[in-house]
Amino acid sequence: MPCDYENFITKVYQKTGINLALYKEAQMKRRLTSLYQKKGFASFNEFFQALNNNHELLNEFLDRMTINVSEFYRNGKRWDVLDKTILPGLITNNSNPKIWSAACSTGEEPYTLAMVLSKHVPLSRLQILATDIDENVLAKAKLGVYSERSLNEVPKEIVNKYFNAEGSYFKVSDEIKKTVTFKKQNLLADHFGGPFDLIVCRNVLIYFTEEAKEELYQKFSAALKPGGILFVGSTEQIFNPNTYGFETAETFFYRKK
Ligand SMILES: C[S@@+](CC[C@H](N)C(=O)[O-])C[C@H]1O[C@@H](n2cnc3c(N)ncnc32)[C@H](O)[C@@H]1O
Repeated sequence: MPCDYENFITKVYQKTGINLALYKEAQMKRRLTSLYQKKGFASFNEFFQALNNNHELLNEFLDRMTINVSEFYRNGKRWDVLDKTILPGLITNNSNPKIWSAACSTGEEPYTLAMVLSKHVPLSRLQILATDIDENVLAKAKLGVYSERSLNEVPKEIVNKYFNAEGSYFKVSDEIKKTVTFKKQNLLADHFGGPFDLIVCRNVLIYFTEEAKEELYQKFSAALKPGGILFVGSTEQIFNPNTYGFETAETFFYRKK
Protein backbone atom coordinates (compact mmCIF):
# COMPACT_ATOMS: atom_id res chain seq x y z
CA MET A 1 0.00 0.00 0.00
CA PRO A 2 1.39 3.44 -0.88
CA CYS A 3 2.45 5.46 2.17
CA ASP A 4 0.96 8.75 3.32
CA TYR A 5 3.55 10.88 1.45
CA GLU A 6 3.30 8.85 -1.79
CA ASN A 7 -0.49 9.27 -1.74
CA PHE A 8 -0.05 12.96 -1.19
CA ILE A 9 2.31 13.18 -4.17
CA THR A 10 -0.27 11.49 -6.41
CA LYS A 11 -3.12 13.73 -5.27
CA VAL A 12 -1.11 16.94 -5.54
CA TYR A 13 -0.08 15.93 -9.06
CA GLN A 14 -3.72 15.31 -10.04
CA LYS A 15 -4.77 18.66 -8.60
CA THR A 16 -1.91 20.95 -9.69
CA GLY A 17 0.21 19.14 -12.31
CA ILE A 18 3.20 19.54 -9.97
CA ASN A 19 5.10 16.28 -9.54
CA LEU A 20 6.69 16.30 -6.09
CA ALA A 21 8.33 12.94 -6.88
CA LEU A 22 10.85 14.86 -9.03
CA TYR A 23 12.04 16.89 -6.02
CA LYS A 24 14.56 15.43 -3.54
CA GLU A 25 12.39 13.51 -1.11
CA ALA A 26 14.00 13.99 2.32
CA GLN A 27 14.22 17.77 1.93
CA MET A 28 10.72 18.24 0.51
CA LYS A 29 9.09 15.89 3.02
CA ARG A 30 10.74 17.76 5.90
CA ARG A 31 9.59 21.16 4.66
CA LEU A 32 6.02 20.01 4.11
CA THR A 33 5.79 18.02 7.36
CA SER A 34 6.80 21.07 9.35
CA LEU A 35 4.13 23.12 7.51
CA TYR A 36 1.26 20.67 8.08
CA GLN A 37 2.21 20.17 11.73
CA LYS A 38 2.31 23.92 12.26
CA LYS A 39 -1.19 24.08 10.76
CA GLY A 40 -2.42 21.41 13.20
CA PHE A 41 -2.80 18.43 10.84
CA ALA A 42 -1.71 14.92 11.80
CA SER A 43 -0.83 13.48 8.40
CA PHE A 44 -0.26 14.31 4.71
CA ASN A 45 -3.69 12.81 4.05
CA GLU A 46 -5.43 15.25 6.41
CA PHE A 47 -3.34 18.08 4.98
CA PHE A 48 -4.42 17.26 1.42
CA GLN A 49 -8.13 17.08 2.34
CA ALA A 50 -7.81 20.58 3.79
CA LEU A 51 -5.83 22.20 0.99
CA ASN A 52 -8.09 20.61 -1.61
CA ASN A 53 -10.91 22.86 -0.38
CA ASN A 54 -8.98 25.89 0.75
CA HIS A 55 -7.31 28.09 -1.82
CA GLU A 56 -5.32 30.03 0.74
CA LEU A 57 -3.86 26.86 2.24
CA LEU A 58 -3.05 25.58 -1.25
CA ASN A 59 -1.17 28.83 -1.83
CA GLU A 60 0.73 28.43 1.43
CA PHE A 61 1.67 24.91 0.42
CA LEU A 62 2.92 26.16 -2.97
CA ASP A 63 4.83 28.90 -1.24
CA ARG A 64 6.53 26.40 1.08
CA MET A 65 7.47 23.91 -1.63
CA THR A 66 9.01 26.56 -3.89
CA ILE A 67 11.93 28.25 -2.21
CA ASN A 68 11.86 31.79 -3.50
CA VAL A 69 15.01 33.39 -2.12
CA SER A 70 16.76 35.55 -4.69
CA GLU A 71 18.85 38.71 -4.92
CA PHE A 72 20.26 41.10 -7.51
CA TYR A 73 23.77 40.15 -8.71
CA ARG A 74 23.64 36.91 -6.68
CA ASN A 75 27.22 35.54 -6.42
CA GLY A 76 28.60 38.75 -7.91
CA LYS A 77 31.83 37.23 -9.28
CA ARG A 78 29.83 34.99 -11.62
CA TRP A 79 28.05 38.01 -13.09
CA ASP A 80 31.48 39.56 -13.66
CA VAL A 81 32.52 36.47 -15.61
CA LEU A 82 29.30 36.69 -17.63
CA ASP A 83 29.95 40.37 -18.34
CA LYS A 84 33.66 40.26 -19.12
CA THR A 85 34.33 36.77 -20.48
CA ILE A 86 31.13 35.21 -21.79
CA LEU A 87 29.06 38.03 -23.29
CA PRO A 88 31.74 39.59 -25.53
CA GLY A 89 31.97 36.32 -27.50
CA LEU A 90 28.23 35.67 -27.43
CA ILE A 91 26.62 38.99 -28.19
CA THR A 92 27.50 41.75 -30.61
CA ASN A 93 26.14 45.25 -30.65
CA ASN A 94 23.76 44.51 -33.49
CA SER A 95 22.49 41.08 -32.46
CA ASN A 96 18.99 40.44 -31.12
CA PRO A 97 19.85 38.06 -28.30
CA LYS A 98 17.17 35.67 -27.00
CA ILE A 99 17.58 35.05 -23.33
CA TRP A 100 15.73 32.95 -20.77
CA SER A 101 15.82 33.24 -17.00
CA ALA A 102 14.34 29.89 -15.92
CA ALA A 103 12.94 29.80 -12.35
CA CYS A 104 13.28 33.58 -12.02
CA SER A 105 11.54 33.94 -8.64
CA THR A 106 10.75 37.58 -7.76
CA GLY A 107 12.57 39.05 -10.77
CA GLU A 108 15.99 40.01 -9.40
CA GLU A 109 17.73 37.59 -11.79
CA PRO A 110 16.17 38.67 -15.14
CA TYR A 111 16.49 42.35 -14.18
CA THR A 112 20.17 41.78 -13.30
CA LEU A 113 20.56 40.15 -16.70
CA ALA A 114 19.09 43.17 -18.45
CA MET A 115 21.38 45.51 -16.48
CA VAL A 116 24.51 43.50 -17.33
CA LEU A 117 23.50 43.02 -20.96
CA SER A 118 22.82 46.73 -21.38
CA LYS A 119 26.61 47.21 -21.55
CA HIS A 120 26.77 44.97 -24.62
CA VAL A 121 23.63 45.63 -26.62
CA PRO A 122 21.01 48.40 -26.77
CA LEU A 123 18.13 47.60 -24.40
CA SER A 124 15.69 47.98 -27.31
CA ARG A 125 17.17 44.82 -28.86
CA LEU A 126 16.88 42.69 -25.74
CA GLN A 127 14.20 40.04 -25.21
CA ILE A 128 14.39 38.26 -21.89
CA LEU A 129 11.86 35.57 -21.08
CA ALA A 130 11.53 35.00 -17.34
CA THR A 131 9.55 32.03 -16.03
CA ASP A 132 8.62 30.48 -12.72
CA ILE A 133 6.11 27.93 -11.47
CA ASP A 134 4.85 30.24 -8.71
CA GLU A 135 2.31 32.92 -9.65
CA ASN A 136 2.86 34.85 -6.43
CA VAL A 137 6.53 35.49 -7.17
CA LEU A 138 5.71 36.42 -10.77
CA ALA A 139 3.26 39.08 -9.56
CA LYS A 140 5.98 40.60 -7.38
CA ALA A 141 8.51 40.36 -10.22
CA LYS A 142 6.21 42.27 -12.58
CA LEU A 143 5.85 45.08 -10.05
CA GLY A 144 9.63 45.45 -9.89
CA VAL A 145 9.66 47.11 -6.47
CA TYR A 146 12.35 46.08 -3.96
CA SER A 147 13.59 47.01 -0.51
CA GLU A 148 16.95 48.73 -0.14
CA ARG A 149 18.39 45.53 1.31
CA SER A 150 17.86 43.57 -1.92
CA LEU A 151 20.09 46.09 -3.71
CA ASN A 152 23.14 45.34 -1.51
CA GLU A 153 25.18 43.79 -4.32
CA VAL A 154 24.15 46.19 -7.08
CA PRO A 155 27.00 48.46 -8.27
CA LYS A 156 26.38 52.11 -7.34
CA GLU A 157 26.33 53.36 -10.92
CA ILE A 158 23.69 50.74 -11.82
CA VAL A 159 21.51 51.77 -8.86
CA ASN A 160 21.69 55.37 -10.07
CA LYS A 161 21.00 54.45 -13.67
CA TYR A 162 18.26 51.83 -13.41
CA PHE A 163 16.42 52.26 -10.10
CA ASN A 164 14.08 54.99 -8.91
CA ALA A 165 13.74 55.54 -5.17
CA GLU A 166 10.11 55.59 -3.97
CA GLY A 167 10.02 56.22 -0.22
CA SER A 168 12.03 53.42 1.34
CA TYR A 169 11.64 51.25 -1.79
CA PHE A 170 13.40 51.09 -5.12
CA LYS A 171 11.63 50.61 -8.42
CA VAL A 172 13.30 49.10 -11.48
CA SER A 173 13.20 51.59 -14.37
CA ASP A 174 10.70 51.10 -17.18
CA GLU A 175 13.42 50.70 -19.84
CA ILE A 176 14.73 47.65 -17.92
CA LYS A 177 11.25 46.30 -17.19
CA LYS A 178 10.30 46.50 -20.86
CA THR A 179 13.00 43.99 -21.81
CA VAL A 180 11.52 41.22 -19.61
CA THR A 181 8.41 39.13 -20.25
CA PHE A 182 7.24 37.08 -17.27
CA LYS A 183 5.38 33.82 -17.78
CA LYS A 184 4.20 30.96 -15.59
CA GLN A 185 5.97 27.72 -16.48
CA ASN A 186 6.68 24.40 -14.81
CA LEU A 187 10.20 23.35 -15.82
CA LEU A 188 9.37 19.73 -15.05
CA ALA A 189 6.31 19.54 -17.27
CA ASP A 190 5.95 22.38 -19.77
CA HIS A 191 7.40 22.92 -23.24
CA PHE A 192 10.69 24.84 -23.61
CA GLY A 193 10.75 27.57 -26.26
CA GLY A 194 13.86 28.73 -28.04
CA PRO A 195 16.30 28.60 -29.57
CA PHE A 196 18.06 30.81 -27.02
CA ASP A 197 21.51 32.43 -26.98
CA LEU A 198 21.68 32.31 -23.19
CA ILE A 199 19.74 30.35 -20.58
CA VAL A 200 20.20 31.24 -16.93
CA CYS A 201 18.92 28.58 -14.54
CA ARG A 202 20.29 29.03 -11.05
CA ASN A 203 19.50 27.67 -7.62
CA VAL A 204 16.56 25.49 -8.53
CA LEU A 205 18.12 22.29 -9.93
CA ILE A 206 19.55 21.58 -6.44
CA TYR A 207 16.00 20.76 -5.31
CA PHE A 208 15.41 18.14 -8.04
CA THR A 209 16.26 14.43 -8.18
CA GLU A 210 19.23 13.30 -10.32
CA GLU A 211 16.85 11.86 -12.96
CA ALA A 212 14.92 15.12 -13.21
CA LYS A 213 18.17 17.10 -13.49
CA GLU A 214 19.50 14.88 -16.28
CA GLU A 215 16.33 15.35 -18.28
CA LEU A 216 16.47 19.10 -17.78
CA TYR A 217 20.09 19.34 -18.96
CA GLN A 218 19.03 17.55 -22.16
CA LYS A 219 16.12 19.92 -22.63
CA PHE A 220 18.23 23.02 -21.95
CA SER A 221 20.79 21.80 -24.46
CA ALA A 222 18.09 21.27 -27.08
CA ALA A 223 16.69 24.78 -26.41
CA LEU A 224 20.05 26.53 -27.02
CA LYS A 225 21.50 27.67 -30.34
CA PRO A 226 24.86 26.09 -31.19
CA GLY A 227 27.42 28.19 -29.26
CA GLY A 228 24.71 29.27 -26.80
CA ILE A 229 25.41 29.30 -23.07
CA LEU A 230 23.78 27.71 -20.01
CA PHE A 231 24.61 29.62 -16.81
CA VAL A 232 23.95 27.60 -13.62
CA GLY A 233 24.08 28.31 -9.87
CA SER A 234 27.24 28.33 -7.81
CA THR A 235 26.62 24.87 -6.30
CA GLU A 236 25.29 23.34 -9.50
CA GLN A 237 28.32 22.33 -11.52
CA ILE A 238 27.58 19.77 -14.27
CA PHE A 239 30.08 16.92 -13.88
CA ASN A 240 29.69 15.32 -17.31
CA PRO A 241 28.76 18.20 -19.66
CA ASN A 242 29.68 16.16 -22.75
CA THR A 243 26.75 13.82 -22.15
CA TYR A 244 24.40 16.72 -22.86
CA GLY A 245 26.30 18.19 -25.82
CA PHE A 246 27.96 20.89 -23.68
CA GLU A 247 31.57 21.94 -23.18
CA THR A 248 32.70 23.94 -20.16
CA ALA A 249 33.17 27.59 -21.12
CA GLU A 250 33.99 28.78 -17.56
CA THR A 251 33.10 27.29 -14.18
CA PHE A 252 29.26 27.33 -14.03
CA PHE A 253 28.97 28.27 -17.74
CA TYR A 254 28.39 25.58 -20.38
CA ARG A 255 28.56 26.10 -24.12
CA LYS A 256 26.31 24.11 -26.45
CA LYS A 257 28.53 22.44 -29.07
C1 LIG B 1 15.75 29.70 -4.90
S1 LIG B 1 14.75 30.39 -6.17
C2 LIG B 1 15.99 30.84 -7.36
C3 LIG B 1 15.73 32.19 -7.96
C4 LIG B 1 16.82 32.70 -8.92
N1 LIG B 1 17.00 31.82 -10.04
C5 LIG B 1 18.14 32.90 -8.19
O1 LIG B 1 19.07 32.12 -8.38
O2 LIG B 1 18.23 33.84 -7.38
C6 LIG B 1 14.00 28.94 -6.87
C7 LIG B 1 12.80 29.23 -7.76
O3 LIG B 1 12.47 28.03 -8.46
C8 LIG B 1 11.06 28.00 -8.64
N2 LIG B 1 10.67 26.61 -8.98
C9 LIG B 1 10.61 25.53 -8.16
N3 LIG B 1 10.18 24.45 -8.86
C10 LIG B 1 9.97 24.87 -10.15
C11 LIG B 1 9.52 24.22 -11.32
N4 LIG B 1 9.19 22.93 -11.34
N5 LIG B 1 9.40 24.96 -12.46
C12 LIG B 1 9.74 26.30 -12.47
N6 LIG B 1 10.16 26.96 -11.38
C13 LIG B 1 10.29 26.26 -10.22
C14 LIG B 1 10.54 28.51 -7.32
O4 LIG B 1 9.21 28.97 -7.43
C15 LIG B 1 11.56 29.61 -6.98
O5 LIG B 1 11.08 30.87 -7.39
